[in-house]
Amino acid sequence: MQTITTVRDLRRFVWLHRQAGRTIGFVPTMGALHHGHMALVERCRADNDVTVVSIFVNPTQFGPGEDFDAYPRDLDRDLELCREHGVDAVFHPAVAEMYPEPLQTGIEVPALSTILIGEQRPGHFRGVATVVAKLLNIAEPDRAYFGEKDFQQLAVVRRMAFDLSMRASIVGVPTVREADGLAASSRNKRLTPAERRVAPVIHQGMLAARSLFSTGERDAATLVSAIRSATEREPSISLLSCDLRDSATLGILERVTDKPAVLLVTARLGSVVLIDQLELRPGATEEGEAA
Ligand code: PAF
Repeated sequence: MQTITTVRDLRRFVWLHRQAGRTIGFVPTMGALHHGHMALVERCRADNDVTVVSIFVNPTQFGPGEDFDAYPRDLDRDLELCREHGVDAVFHPAVAEMYPEPLQTGIEVPALSTILIGEQRPGHFRGVATVVAKLLNIAEPDRAYFGEKDFQQLAVVRRMAFDLSMRASIVGVPTVREADGLAASSRNKRLTPAERRVAPVIHQGMLAARSLFSTGERDAATLVSAIRSATEREPSISLLSCDLRDSATLGILERVTDKPAVLLVTARLGSVVLIDQLELRPGATEEGEAA
């Protein structure tokens, strides 16, 4: 596995593989890797000849009150995990390599970026869209992999890649869960043991909503109330938002129709904000797979 720190060297690495007729898959991350990231790597390796992972804590997606410096960093462990999982190259640039001068250009996907998480974190998705565009311009992969857990991020990146006619196909990978159903996330480490015990209630609420959906329920308010009732059983969880949305536009829906819809949840548990999602596809079975 190669560790690459400059834009020039990554371009050369990719060019050499492309000359040899190999396909390139790319997994952008901010490090603090866990088994959720490794599911992206595994899917990437299955689809492509060469897998490149980027590890870059991107300062432009952190707001003024958000702690960029405190974001967890453990490069040695991340590199070890990538090596064990058969990654071909890790791109780990310094901030000055990615941003040699203050940016004058930024990518906005306003309709998808100013709602939900974007409402609480103004400018966050501008930072994400811009750094992802930069990374995709540098690596020029055939495919790039993003977790469905960060559903809004995936929608923003998909729309940006579509609007800007980017070469890479954007691939969403299903959420990886702990044994008790909690969505895998680097934030889970910040939960106290007591908070960690109650956190799976969010997923339990989603399973209740999915079960209603599988028996024919299509009304958004009823599906949402199944999640609300589950989380209300735990007073330490406060639901910040919970609604049914169109999977592509993220517009609010009153009913599931013939288009894919998604239940999006944001909840606060102590000092940690957790997000989760459940896609409801018309014609889906109890397991959520297309029938
Ligand atoms: O999801 C993340 O880890 C980041 O937002 C991403 C996509 C790597 C951009 O910095």
